[in-house]
Amino acid sequence: MKGKCFFLCLLCAAGAALSQAQTQTAPKHLTGELAPVPPMGWNTWNIFQTNINESLLKDMVNAYVESGMKDAGYQYFVLDDGWMAKERDSAGNLVADPVKFPNGMKAFADYVHARGLKFGIYNCAGWKTCAGYPGTRGHEFQDARLYASWGVDFLKYDWCYADSLNAPEAYRTMSEALRATGRPIVFSLCEWGTHNPWLWAQHIGELYRTTGDIGASFIVKKKMGDWTPLTVMDIVDKQEAIRKYNGPNHWNDPDMLEVGNGMSNEEDKSHFTLWCMLSAPLAAGNNLHTMSRGTRDILTNRELIALDQDPRGIAAFKLNIPDSLELWVKPLENNQIALCFFNRTGISRKLSLQWKDLHLTDSLSHMDVQFDRQTYNLRDLWEKKDAGKTDKPLERQIGPHQVIVYRLKPANG
Ligand code: GLA
Repeated sequence: MKGKCFFLCLLCAAGAALSQAQTQTAPKHLTGELAPVPPMGWNTWNIFQTNINESLLKDMVNAYVESGMKDAGYQYFVLDDGWMAKERDSAGNLVADPVKFPNGMKAFADYVHARGLKFGIYNCAGWKTCAGYPGTRGHEFQDARLYASWGVDFLKYDWCYADSLNAPEAYRTMSEALRATGRPIVFSLCEWGTHNPWLWAQHIGELYRTTGDIGASFIVKKKMGDWTPLTVMDIVDKQEAIRKYNGPNHWNDPDMLEVGNGMSNEEDKSHFTLWCMLSAPLAAGNNLHTMSRGTRDILTNRELIALDQDPRGIAAFKLNIPDSLELWVKPLENNQIALCFFNRTGISRKLSLQWKDLHLTDSLSHMDVQFDRQTYNLRDLWEKKDAGKTDKPLERQIGPHQVIVYRLKPANG
């Protein structure tokens, strides 16, 4: 009897050790761990739409590296709509547009990889892409195998010409097709929040768009031909209600950045800051080759990026404070906090804060901070300097559409 038990126990122990080893060695794309922090990259769409080609994009790849974007943490180089020929080939394979990409897509992917970046591509769950190129419907496994053979690391998957489809099923099919290739490919769902993807997409992909398309306007809508994109503020206002769904490996995606595409410098800073406060994926969408120093300084502000990439991945919540100002609060690791004071109005406002009057609580992150009990050191992340402690009142002027952002560290911590 004793011997039997010993043998059984040995078997159990061996089984447990094996399954632990399997979990530890399972590829990250099979365990859904490809994006523990929000993915960072660059995408062609916002600035070039379908007007892309190999030589233009090689310039972008080079500028990506030379401008310091790569060193600041950006990783993915993503081709959006318009990279394909209008028809599949006789075997049903997608083909890169031979005029735009005369050396084919594998050669371009190799160019991107050779510069230490990861390569992303775009298609659509429907029969056509939004710009009218061949969609993936009915070719999911075939397209996934082709992408893997090119070395694709990221797929953005759109929702045009897909009205009759069931969104969770269509996205699950493509997710399975990507996993079946054996290549780790980050899956970026883009059905514009229409079917509440935050409720079902967490194990299907790593990020999911939460709204329609962004435009390069801060608060006042601007027409683009016969269509009006959302403003930065339209999008921000849709994020707080879904903040509890955001977290490691499943990111709410408030769309790509419009930094450097025509808003004022202060608006670009606020747009970038709010995306970082939300722990949003950061996909720059400007011309990297011609970007100004001001734009580069925004996109590569490492102290802001560190908020976005904080391992807890908790999106900020908003408090309305006096004088029509907003205070966005982001809980960080090690009992630190990011505070973003934001003036969305068109006139300059005075921020006057008695810290002891502020009590920050948040059930999602279990935050409970009272400034009369705990003093924090303040660091101003745009001024890039230490800014005293929370033991003295805060008095600042905040211009129209401007932010002031602090990282707070416990003074005795
Ligand atoms: C949709 C997406 C955009 C972009 C275009 C391409 O509108 O939401 O981000 O990918 O399609 O056609």
